[in-house]
Parts: sequence; C-alpha cells; structure tokens
Amino acid sequence: MEPVDLTVTALHGSVDDPALNSMNFLNEVAQHYPDAVSLAAGRPYEEFFDSARLPEHLDRFRRHLADDLGLDPAQVDRTLLQYGRTKGIVHHLIARNLAVDERITVDPEAIVVTVGCQEAMFLVLRALRADPSDVLFAVAPTYVGLTGAARLVDLPVRPVAGGPDGVDLADLRAGVRRARAEGLRPRACYVMPDFANPSGVSMDTARRRRLLDLAAEEDLLLIEDNPYGLFPAAGTDRRPTLKALDTARRVVYLGSFAKSVLPGARVGYVVADQRVGGSDGTVGPLADQLAKIKSMVTVNTSPISQAVIGGALLAHDCSLVAANVRERAAYARNLGHLVDGLARRFPAGGPVRWTVPAGGFFVVLTVPFPVDDAVLHRSAREYGVLWTPMAHFYDAGTPVNALRLSVSAVTPAQIDRGLDRLAALVADTAAAPV
Ligand SMILES: Cc1ncc(COP(=O)(O)O)c(C=O)c1O
Repeated sequence: MEPVDLTVTALHGSVDDPALNSMNFLNEVAQHYPDAVSLAAGRPYEEFFDSARLPEHLDRFRRHLADDLGLDPAQVDRTLLQYGRTKGIVHHLIARNLAVDERITVDPEAIVVTVGCQEAMFLVLRALRADPSDVLFAVAPTYVGLTGAARLVDLPVRPVAGGPDGVDLADLRAGVRRARAEGLRPRACYVMPDFANPSGVSMDTARRRRLLDLAAEEDLLLIEDNPYGLFPAAGTDRRPTLKALDTARRVVYLGSFAKSVLPGARVGYVVADQRVGGSDGTVGPLADQLAKIKSMVTVNTSPISQAVIGGALLAHDCSLVAANVRERAAYARNLGHLVDGLARRFPAGGPVRWTVPAGGFFVVLTVPFPVDDAVLHRSAREYGVLWTPMAHFYDAGTPVNALRLSVSAVTPAQIDRGLDRLAALVADTAAAPV
C-alpha cells in the first residue's frame, strides 16, 4: 500500500504559523548550542530545585485531605489516583493564596485548575471566540504563547501599543472603536501589568485603574496574565493586580505555578468569575463553561501534580511570597547585576539602550542594527551567547533593533560572561552590519 503523505497546507493554518514555529525555533537554537550562555530562557532558577521534597509535598496534601477536609483513606486515594473533578482539587488553596498574597477575594468555584497557564489561555480564548467577527486585543510586544493560542482558535489578535507605561490607553480605545466600525466584535484585551514578558514593563496603579475604567466604558473584558508579579526588583514594592482592583468582574485572571513553585508540575489556573446565563435559565461562573472545554482537551489536570502544588502551598500557609524568599532574592540580585553590567559595558547616551524593569525576568536591549534569527545564530555560534530577538514577539515578525535578555536561569558569573560576549557581538555587528 502507498504510504500517506500530507502537506502542511492541508492542516490547520496554525501549524505553519510563525507564532507556533517561534517556540520550536528558539528551543532548537538553545539545544544546538548547549555550551552557550543562555540569556534567552525564561525558565526559573534551578539551584533551588529539590526533587527529594516531592514526597513531602504529596504527604502534606494527603494529610490536608484527611485532617482538614475529613476524607477517609479510600477517599484520599480516590482523590489522588482516580480521574477527578474537572475544575481541579486545589482550587480552595489557590483561592487562599490569592487572598493572602494578592488580596483577591474569589469564590473557589470560579477557579479552574489547568495544565499550566498555557491551557488556561487556550480555554479562555476558545470560549471567547464565538464568531468570525470576534477579535482580541493584546499589548505589543506580546507573549508568543498567547498569540499561538489565539491562532489555534482562529481568533485574530490586534496589537495595542504598550509603550513605557505598559499600555497606551488612547491606542486601545481607538483600536476598539475602529474594530467596531469595521463590524468586528472586540472580546477582550490581554495584558500583563507586572514585569511583562517580554518588555519587562509594569503599569502603575493609576494606569491600572484607568484601564479598568476604559474596559467598563468600552465594554471589554481584560485578560490579566501574572506569572512574574511575585518578583519585584530590589527595593521595589508589589502593586495591586488588576483583579484585586476589579469590582465589576471585568478581569479574567491567569495564574501559573511554573515560576513560583515548579514548572515540571505543569499546573496553572484561571479565575473566571463572570456570570454566564445558560440556555436552561441557570446562571454560573464562566469557569463552569471553561471546565466543559477543558473536559474535552485534558479531562482534568493531573491530581498528582496538583497535590505537589497543593502541598507546596500548604507548607507556607498558602503564601507564595513566603515560599519564594530565596528565589525572590536571587531574581532581584540577577536583575540588578544585569542592569549594572550593561551600564559598565555600554556608554550612557550611546546607541545601545536598555530598559530598567521594576522586577521580573526580562530586560530589552536596543541595538543599532536589525536583530533577526541569523544574528542570533551567529551570536550562539561565534560568541557563545543566546538571547531572544524581539521580532518573535511582534506579529509582523519583521526584524526590530532589539533583543530580550533573561536573568532567571543564570548565575551572576554567567551574566558577566554572557554580557562580555554580547558586548563583543554588538560592537562587531555595529561596526560591520550584515
Ligand atoms: C507571560 C507568560 N504567560 C504564561 C506562561 C506559561 O506558563 P505555564 O508554564 O504555567 O504554562 C509564561 C511562561 O513563560 C509566560 O511568560
């Protein structure tokens, strides 16, 4: 029999889309040059990883099920080992965490525990994309996982200028009105108010309030993604999340335990407390509708993974601020080290500029030449340093004169080595642009 061959053009358009190719490309470059210093990866610091603690976490959660929730041994085993509740089994602990660390008050029934924040994005966009006229707004540059998830559900993403304040409100309002005039239906705007990936920019509290007002005036949902909010720079205070300021259920809040507990568990969540009226007259949280979609994507999030996260939360009375004392110090130290290192290597007032974020993992470096994937390859091959071309975070994909540096997975010594190599690359490329 003839083997079956398919062409990519006969598959869903997303599989050949730059947004989906981008993640693969960046991973492949990193794997190709394992000896290069990586200022590319947004992965958490590995020095504090300790797999020997997993049984502790599991056991603490088991005791919680028995002692606090009153489950008998058979129920405990069923909860951990059987197929489980679609919305998850650590929702009550997540609600407590949000109350303790973020002063967000939320009914645990409005939470869906997901396979990473990535699944949460997919569920929300799948639910919102009801009609071909639907359109999503996203602050640019945009996290590529969001753009990719939107592609999977055929939801167009329109960029909103981010600028130095995190979101250009006039641009968002104009974009929404323009879309409506074109007969489109703006569903939501995706924002990352705290230490955004990739820009590193944060919104001040007044801007957050104005964004909420604008969302109310223009009848728009806000999708707030907050994986980095726990990690302010040294001497910087954390700000209230949009969700904490939201009194009208305008904000769908996405959370991830990848940076605050461990990425290998693949656990995240969405808070979706918007009321949805059903065709049968019942009213419930949007979370219930998202759970229906989830039941057809991943059925439920691994209860074993959830138990690990649940145990880690319980170890610190559900405070991730308390659980991440060492990590918070390491990220703040690294961010300071990178910014100081840039200042030592590039003269003030020169053509090379950089952002000084109030926290998070990322700094954007502006250089006097276009940065494309070929420059990245050359940097890895000839200079031994990896970073991320900013073009990957813009839909057009055309090279921009900027690159993203990440401080999360390196030591100060590696930052020094990486910056020396980067400075050589920048000097050589600026002198003889390709
Ligand atoms: C902005 C943003 N959102 C979401 C995620 C994905 O989180 P998770 O690993 O929980 O799927 C990341 C991961 O890097 C991220 O940077």
